[in-house]
Amino acid sequence: MREPAIATTDVTTDLAFQRCLNPDCGSTHGCDEVLTECPKCGSLLDVQYDWDRLKPPKSLTWFEQKWSRRFEPLSFSGVWRFHELLPFAKPEQVVTIGEGQTLLQHAPAVAKFVGLRGAKLYLQYEGMNPSGSFKDNGMSAAFTHAHSIGATRAACASTGNTSASLAAYCSVSKLMKAVIFIGSGKISYGKLSQALDYGALTVQIAGDFDDAMQRVREVSKELGIYLVNSVNPFRLEGQKTIMLRVLEALRWQTPDWIVVPGGNLGNSSAFGKAFMELKQLGLIDRVPRLAIINAAGSNTLYQLYEKRGLRWNGGRPDLSIADNYMAELDAAKKRASTIASAIEINRPVNLTKCLRALEFCDGVVRETTDQEILDAKAQVGAGGLGCEPASAASVAGARQLVQEGVIGPDESVVCILTGHQLKDPDATVGYHTTDQEMFNKILGSRGVKRAAYANRAVAVNNNLEEIVRAIQLYS
Ligand code: F0G
Repeated sequence: MREPAIATTDVTTDLAFQRCLNPDCGSTHGCDEVLTECPKCGSLLDVQYDWDRLKPPKSLTWFEQKWSRRFEPLSFSGVWRFHELLPFAKPEQVVTIGEGQTLLQHAPAVAKFVGLRGAKLYLQYEGMNPSGSFKDNGMSAAFTHAHSIGATRAACASTGNTSASLAAYCSVSKLMKAVIFIGSGKISYGKLSQALDYGALTVQIAGDFDDAMQRVREVSKELGIYLVNSVNPFRLEGQKTIMLRVLEALRWQTPDWIVVPGGNLGNSSAFGKAFMELKQLGLIDRVPRLAIINAAGSNTLYQLYEKRGLRWNGGRPDLSIADNYMAELDAAKKRASTIASAIEINRPVNLTKCLRALEFCDGVVRETTDQEILDAKAQVGAGGLGCEPASAASVAGARQLVQEGVIGPDESVVCILTGHQLKDPDATVGYHTTDQEMFNKILGSRGVKRAAYANRAVAVNNNLEEIVRAIQLYS
């Protein structure tokens, strides 16, 4: 195999470095190395910092003063505003397109649906990012690293949002060419249109996301293309800041629960790392509990964690449990299948890192059906800031956990809305439609039987009297 064709330069000092997650290896590597797994043992890597020498701020409120300098791109970015907590790059190396201007919406109506008597439900709306999903948080960090080591091409496999994000960073910055791998027929048009519009080289694999993920790893190695999937530890550094913004919006009070959809498990892993570091640095004294929600049609984490007892186990998880499960999936020719196409993933690449997050945050995992996802999505949409199906898994999961009594009715809960509603208009229109044929085509094949919260269009003849009568009747 050829050597990777990426030039390496001295990016950062030894204050930031990469470290293998496996405690029996623990090898460290400079930030100038391009790695997506430990070269010694193949485990995942973390970006780690010498906090004693870096001396980050002593209080999180310190970050608020940066708002007064928001005319500076680094202070304006919702990621780099927290640079001192992800200091792997020098300020002049940062690539930002204004990511992270997102908001935490208090949602009492959705709280009622979820069953939270205390109405303490908050929706972290990551759809407000430049490419319409949370991926921009991580992409800004990975892209910064890629550019700083001299990469000219960056690749990813994607269910649509990572590719939209990478394509956006490439086209806005003109610093790199995007090469994206997608499964055939597995990506919503909203997302595909972004990659095409932004000019990415789009490679459609005859297979699903899990196939595309495997291939992009091989191809990136072979051709020396920088890989921006969440096996890239720098990407997760950017995604930590979603939790920092949540805390900021809650006036630095830790909520009781963070609920997040789980696909490739990058977000949940990043959130766990954020809380581990904040606790270690004495910046928070309480850690929230973490709930990760799988779609029932792609529920690997749920199966492994809740049904087969796979645990972090001090960094030595019994991965034979996962291997056996994957072998069973293969033997049964079972493929991931859900309306929440963003999380239609059976082989999550961040599994072990996510187990660490679950351990640290006393986490739980649940699965939720496409019916439950779409009902929750309609409730979120009725609140005004709509989301795509995968995002609504968080709300559906929170509802389930309240019904089970795991989440108390007076507890405070933050659900992460990972992607914008317009990413997947088919799912939304399919749910609200009056056209039974369309409903069956888009949703019926997925076991969705009813649309209890549908807002149906009213059909009238092109006649003034009839139109007026219809409006009076329905308004
Ligand atoms: N929500 C949305 C909208 C997503 O796009 C994804 C992942 C997830 C949730 C799951 O997050 O992987 O960190 O557990 N989308 C990836 C993609 C896989 O290619 O865009 P995760």
